[in-house]
Amino acid sequence: MSHAYGPVPRKEDARFIRGQGTYVDDIKLPGMLHGAILRSPLAHARIVAVDANAALAHPSVVAVLTGEDLAERGMAWMPTVFGDVQAVLATDKVRFQGQEVAFVVATDRYAARDALELIVVDYEPLPPLIDPLTALDPGAPVIREDLPDGNRVFDWTAGDKPATDAAFAAADVVVGCDMIYPRSHPAPLETCGAIADYDAVNGRLTLWSTSQAPHAHRVMYAALTGIPEHKIRIVSPDLGGGFGAKVPIYPGYLCAVAASQATGRPVKWVEDRSESLMSTAFARDYHMHGEIAATADGEILGLRARVLADHGAFNAAAQPSKFPAGFFHIFTGSYRTRAAYCEVTGVFTNKAPGGVAYSCSFRITEAVYLVERLTDMLARRLGMDPAELRMRNLLRPEQFPYTGPTGWQYDSGDYPRALRLALDMAGYDELRREQAERRARGEYMGIGLSFFTEGVGAGPRSHMDIMGLAMSDGADLRVHPTGKAVLAVSVQTQGQGHETTFAQLVAEELGLSPDDVDVVHGDTDRTPFGLGTYGSRSTPVSGAAAVVAARKVRERARLVAAAMFEASPDDLEWLDGKWRVRGDPDQALGIAEIAMAAHSTIELPTGIEGHLDASAVYNPPNLTFPFGAYICVTDVDPGTGEVKVRRFIAVDDCGVRINPMIVEGQVHRGLADGIGIALMQAISFDEIGNCLSGSFMDYLLPTSLECPSPELGATVTPSPHHPVGAKGIGESATVGSPPAVVNSVVDALAPFGVTHADMPLTPANVWLAIQAAGRLS
Ligand code: CDP
Repeated sequence: MSHAYGPVPRKEDARFIRGQGTYVDDIKLPGMLHGAILRSPLAHARIVAVDANAALAHPSVVAVLTGEDLAERGMAWMPTVFGDVQAVLATDKVRFQGQEVAFVVATDRYAARDALELIVVDYEPLPPLIDPLTALDPGAPVIREDLPDGNRVFDWTAGDKPATDAAFAAADVVVGCDMIYPRSHPAPLETCGAIADYDAVNGRLTLWSTSQAPHAHRVMYAALTGIPEHKIRIVSPDLGGGFGAKVPIYPGYLCAVAASQATGRPVKWVEDRSESLMSTAFARDYHMHGEIAATADGEILGLRARVLADHGAFNAAAQPSKFPAGFFHIFTGSYRTRAAYCEVTGVFTNKAPGGVAYSCSFRITEAVYLVERLTDMLARRLGMDPAELRMRNLLRPEQFPYTGPTGWQYDSGDYPRALRLALDMAGYDELRREQAERRARGEYMGIGLSFFTEGVGAGPRSHMDIMGLAMSDGADLRVHPTGKAVLAVSVQTQGQGHETTFAQLVAEELGLSPDDVDVVHGDTDRTPFGLGTYGSRSTPVSGAAAVVAARKVRERARLVAAAMFEASPDDLEWLDGKWRVRGDPDQALGIAEIAMAAHSTIELPTGIEGHLDASAVYNPPNLTFPFGAYICVTDVDPGTGEVKVRRFIAVDDCGVRINPMIVEGQVHRGLADGIGIALMQAISFDEIGNCLSGSFMDYLLPTSLECPSPELGATVTPSPHHPVGAKGIGESATVGSPPAVVNSVVDALAPFGVTHADMPLTPANVWLAIQAAGRLS
């Protein structure tokens, strides 16, 4: 029976709701200078010359760095998280609109901005390549002359092609569709930024930066700057959201470092919103053709997919190096299938680099979208109810652990239970009746389902890495003499409430109050090594490390308690948060009393050095596989194309919930994400590569007006391999909700003959889909 788990109010909110958080831009160091980046107005052009003399003459300007300056320092190019290289400041060419060309350092940020206009760059325009579908055409403009393979980033396949072809040949029905998961942007409230402070005397670099992975970043900075790793301290203070956007290293961070080295003063760089949308990492941009094969009575036999992945000008996708398309090949979703096969080709285009895991585990979002759209199309083709088709094909509880046709082993699940609960909560049959009545009145209401499985908690270390650094995480737990504890972890919260839930994890293991456990993160000098926070991996990996460390402390405490009781350790049992003598439960010692003894002069048993501290490194044996059943009810106005989300029912299973209130908060956020992605967001470009989504006037964020208060349900299927049975939840709703919204809108438009429409389903796109279907009722 757990004591520390439950809806404990978030500790960190005390500072956040009072405006007392400390974000990078809040930090002001003595003598600090400010940097601004000159960005390319063109998507593709050769740089003939950069003249910074007028900018240097500006009275507030202290330095200007160009690509040539960085080249002299060996810093003009940097490694990307996926092992490609990316220009820090362009030397030869610019390859996307918004690319970094020069860095002005001035005494205040306004002067730095003003001086950008004084830099004269002579560009020789080159033909831009914007449409990824033409990237491999003979004669297409070559973007990366430094690479041997033209515009091809990679070709990658997964699954069994002959078996899949056989499954398709045996099918009664095959349904296929081209669909695009548009380029989207994590758009955290706090944009990216850094303050670099290089101490030339001691050769030390302190870098405050917006980082979801401070330890991995430190390794990369060491490699790039030549500063030894132990002399680099990365501090990632409070983060105003990350959602994958703060996993890569951006040129601005490195410019700040080089500028601090050049000027001998701290240098701050913080991007503005347009810079963020136009140049920091995008997500998705998958152009997919999917097919599903089934029997006439709706048994799914096979799936196949062909994907063209637009990676922009540099391959900066954030995914483990074994998986160039991330976890896309989990695209069989939550269903039994005989076989599956996918082919993914990545291409370069003249667009900003990226491919980050925006609130998802490395491309699972695209995979879930594909299979959930195909499932709905199949239901329509067969004349079956989409809920019934899903129920028929969902994996059964007794099939777990389940190894899918592309090699993933799902740890645990009871899928039918989750779907049944969602259908009951929605009043599904009643909704369908209402829909029929409304249709008869010329009103277009949609009911969209999705059932998703996420795979979160990367490692294991043998399969998953960033730039060769394996994905296992450390945890250090220190118990002070009075029983107050400090847990140091490598993951970096971006608003998910780790200071509360990680304290709960330790408190539960040690019989403490969560208030007695402080959580330290976001500072490489104060925390153990680990790979960072993305892909909902904090709880599955670092959370597990924290639990293992706490259990080590508990075992150590057992030995100390045994000495205090003058009993054998074997005669003690851990009950209700204390070590007790078996058969004499009144003889009990809590961690605080034991900790004091462990720091005191009492004689400790041989092998116990004193203190109660412990460390752990956790290498997860597998991903955890949270899942959920979502139902979205929409009302669509066919005259204007406007979509209103009327209800959203979300049943999530993330195993044991440490803090159900925080879990629900995570789901609320993810559902808003999904509604935004499905209905209103895309980073788009014109034919010469001008980014058309450089502000929140064009890249819309969902508000409470677009998002109904969701109706949440839960089932709990513990992960069999996580120490407390928890699975990740941070990103489930972002993954699961877009197909539910799109399925709902397409369902609403069925009377018009619409079978698919690509996101975002803006009023214009919905209206066009109705016109294109050609059956105006
Ligand atoms: O890596 P990230 O923190 O984004 O994702 P997560 O590990 O899924 O956790 C998100 C938040 O929900 C954290 O505060 C977790 O500790 C909490 N959580 C929970 O209370 N119970 C779970 N089963 C999973 C996460």
